[in-house]
Formats: sequence, C-alpha cells, structure tokens
Amino acid sequence: MRIGILTSGGDCPGLNATIRGVAKACYEIMDDVQIIGIQNGYYGLINNIAKEMVPNDFSGILTLGGTILGSKRQAFKMLSMDEDKIKSMKDTYKKLRLDCLLTLGGCGTHKTANLLSAEGLNIIGLPKTIDNDIFGTDVTFGYYTAIDIATDCIDRLHTTAASHSRVIVCEIMGNKVGWLTISAGIAGGADIILIPEKPYDINKVIKSVTDRIEKGKSFSIIAVAEGAYDVEEAKLKKKERAKKREEENITTATSRIVAQIQRETGIDTRSCVPGHILRGGSPNAYDRILATKLGAHAAELIKQGLFGRTIAIVGNKITSNRLSDIAGIMKFIDDDNQLFQTARNIGIHFGR
Ligand code: F6P
Repeated sequence: MRIGILTSGGDCPGLNATIRGVAKACYEIMDDVQIIGIQNGYYGLINNIAKEMVPNDFSGILTLGGTILGSKRQAFKMLSMDEDKIKSMKDTYKKLRLDCLLTLGGCGTHKTANLLSAEGLNIIGLPKTIDNDIFGTDVTFGYYTAIDIATDCIDRLHTTAASHSRVIVCEIMGNKVGWLTISAGIAGGADIILIPEKPYDINKVIKSVTDRIEKGKSFSIIAVAEGAYDVEEAKLKKKERAKKREEENITTATSRIVAQIQRETGIDTRSCVPGHILRGGSPNAYDRILATKLGAHAAELIKQGLFGRTIAIVGNKITSNRLSDIAGIMKFIDDDNQLFQTARNIGIHFGR
C-alpha cells in the first residue's frame, strides 16, 4: 500500500500529530505500508517533489508545531482553468504509484481534494485550521490550541488595560469567520466581540465602552476578528469594500476601530495583533488527542478502501463525510449558535 500525504494552506498546531497518527496506525493495522511525504502541499504534487518516508520520520513529532512536510498556499480556480495543474497532480500520483492520497488542510485544500477525487484519485481529507470553518465537522485540529494562545493574549491585555484605564483592541485571525475570536473572547472575558458574521455599528461599540466607564469600569477589551467589518461595509460587495478601505487609507478594521474610539471618546486606545503567533508552537493536549484520533481513523478508511471522504468529529464521535458533500461550504456562526447565545446572555456586546 503506497500512501501519499501532504499538508496544504496555512499551517497550524497538530499537523505533525495528525501525520504521526496516520502513520503509526497504518503501520499497525496494515502490512507492507510505504508512506510518501509530498512536500509543500499541492505545489509538491504538481511538481513531483516527494520522498519516501521511514517509520523513524514519524517519531518525536507529536509535540512539534508546524509541519514536517512543509506547506504552501496554492490557489486553484475552476477545474477548466486549471487543467494543467490537475493533470500534473494526476501524473505525479501515477508516477509515485500511489494507492491513495491524504490531504491535510482547510476549506481550500478540501475543494482541491474534491476535484482530485472527482478525477478518480483515491483521496482522504483531514480537517486542519485554526479558523474552525470546515463544514461537517464540529471541530478542526489546531483550533483549540489557537484558542488557548488567543485567550492568553486577552488575559495579558486585561492587566495592562486595567492598570492604564485603556481600551485595548485585540485582533484575532479569522478572515471570514469568527469562531476563534468568539471562543477566545468568551474564555478571556472580552467585553466586546466583533466577528465577520455580525457586522458592527461603531457607534454602538463606542456606547458600550462609555457605558462601562459610567458603571465604574475604566477599561475595555475588544476582541476583533481580522475579517470583521461594519454595517456600512456590509452593504458593499467584497471587492467594493476593499476598494473603499483603500481609498480611505484603512488597512484593517482593527486600526480603524482604534482610531474611531480614540477620536470619539478621548480614551487611550491601543491595538494588539498576535497574528501568526496563534498558529505557532506545540499543539495542546486536546489537539494532540484529536489529531491522533482523526489520523487513526484515516488509516481505518484506507484499510477498508473507503475514499472520497474527509474525517470529521461530530458530537464527540469520529466519523467521515463525503468530500463532495462538504467541499466549498464554509461553517459560519449563525444566530442560533450556542457560543453566540452564551456570549450575549452574559452581556458581551457585539456592536449591534
Ligand atoms: O486559514 C488560517 C489563517 O490563519 C486565517 O485565519 C488567516 O486569515 C490566514 O490564515 C493568514 O494566512 P497567511 O499564512 O497566508 O498569512
């Protein structure tokens, strides 16, 4: 059994733990296993950059951040427009004599995995991303570690914000979804949370800050998802929004919010952008266990010859979905979501 494996898109803690889980389970439950590590995601598959791995390659990597296989963002458009790349990937699959290919990645990775599966390759996806936006799985690996890191940032900002009676706006990764921001915001006790799914009204954000001051709370912590936008921007299409920001010389929602609060209230307002720190370092215990369970389940599917699927966790049970059922769909926070409801029930403000 020749098993290809690649990691694609933005890295996250738990990639190596998952690779290890797959490898250890494959060696355990099947005979004659050869794992082929494809370097730098789909780029390596297009350009046939791969190496045969040995069992020792998978030792000592459970706690290691990043990915031993390397990763790369590789934009694919429509199948018809990317025929050459698809052909190259199919050629590499054949040249490497793969029986199947495991693709560890987020939404974009799953879209491509589905294209390859539709082209007849034996594909199994594994759900990676700190964004937790893959449809059909409750959780993705990397997410809970990133929540820990973002929560630690918010905790630390609390003490300095309180000492100086400041507003601190903490920008948390998440371009299209606010899962990480809302979770870390709740865990870190943020006063206001702004996420892309719920466009904010800056006047309501400012009122919430001044209301707190009236109640004797001299500081506020605002957790903002990187991709948050206001109610005026919500009326525009994505490209128009970007153009408007460019014209107004605004780089991020965070920098604009800081300027608006400072200008309207006179309160000392600062920003903090942990950025890629949220993706770095060792996975926490939860992610190590999740990664191992997901990896071991992938090995089971390989053994059973079940392809065209992606591993998921639903209601605390490891399962799998058909790639074609989940590819291209993003998981957003809707109004009924319990995290959102809980945050609102304890008085966290969403600028609405
Ligand atoms: O997809 C994960 C993610 O971390 C997003 O939250 C963020 O918007 C993006 O990656 C940043 O990507 P890059 O690594 O290309 O800067």
